[in-house]
Amino acid sequence: MSNQTPLLEVKNLRKYFKVGSGGILGGKKSYLKAVDGVSFHINHGETLGLVGESGCGKSTTGRTIIRLYDATGGEVNFDGTDLTQIHENEMLPYRKRIQMIFQDPYASLNPRMTVTDIIGEGITTHKISEGKERQERIFDLLNRVGLKREHANRYPHEFSGGQRQRIGIARALAVEPDLVVCDEPISALDVSIQAQVVNMLEDLQDEMGLTYLFIAHDLSMVKHISDRIGVMYLGMLAEVAESEELYNHAQHPYTKALLSAIPIPDPDLTRKNKRIVLQGDVPSPIDPPEGCRFASRCPVASEKCRQVTPELIDRGAGHFVACHSV
Ligand SMILES: Nc1ncnc2c1ncn2[C@@H]1O[C@H](COP(=O)(O)OP(=O)(O)O)[C@@H](O)[C@H]1O
Ligand SMILES: [Mg+2]
Repeated sequence: MSNQTPLLEVKNLRKYFKVGSGGILGGKKSYLKAVDGVSFHINHGETLGLVGESGCGKSTTGRTIIRLYDATGGEVNFDGTDLTQIHENEMLPYRKRIQMIFQDPYASLNPRMTVTDIIGEGITTHKISEGKERQERIFDLLNRVGLKREHANRYPHEFSGGQRQRIGIARALAVEPDLVVCDEPISALDVSIQAQVVNMLEDLQDEMGLTYLFIAHDLSMVKHISDRIGVMYLGMLAEVAESEELYNHAQHPYTKALLSAIPIPDPDLTRKNKRIVLQGDVPSPIDPPEGCRFASRCPVASEKCRQVTPELIDRGAGHFVACHSV
């Protein structure tokens, strides 16, 4: 990388949702700690994969970065500006530079808008082009995502799930973003077209110089697209490393369990360990206990793990692990 300053640097990010009343009857105020102290960076042109089981806080992390949610604490430094500290009316340029691709290609497109309206909305808002030039731009985007000019005046219901996701991708790219938060962009698609969409995202990244935060619930989905991977567990990062390093030298017991559960034999993967089946319950993210959040399911947890939250520490060459047993 020529530019050494990361495009995005997230520091100790927290997002708590208030649950429970805390009203006049004195009900206790509780917080659901969806994201609880997450730190990572993404360099220019890089893809960081973010994986973990459903409910561990991946989408909330993405949504807090783009300020769909206000952070409870921490920093979101984007190209040198902490987005948690600026006023809403200063956000417009960043709403152009950071885009999101959503998981559900059915719910994320307005059914009453044509493809031209959907893709063109941001082009108009951000004054990128108008008139004939705008229309040509929309045709070009359709072409880039593997759709046709004829599709421009149709409505979302006329398309398959895969095609809708392509429309969502064209919408995100229409405003020439720097960073794209891809929130499980292939999870809802047929297995047969998942690889096509991932390959297309990779090609578009190269052509347009994009940086990706690529969220998935499964390690097998992020391996090929990610330069580095972060593994989340209950609102925290357990491990972050370069993809190959993570696959071949996972250190956190949770990452090892996830890797051992990948069902299809992967020729690239040297599986030294047998499948690890995790015992124990996933704790609630509401008022979670002290100590390591994984302790209740961890095969090697000690007393210390139940009392002291392990910090995410660099164990060498950018391989970060949050575990007392490492
Ligand atoms: N708007 C919200 N209000 C309250 N709780 C929420 C909200 N959004 C998400 N959560 C909770 O936060 C946790 C993390 O959710 P989410 O970020 O969607 O996880 P993931 O994307 O990893 O599946 C879950 O326990 C979820 O129920
Ligand atoms: Mg999610």
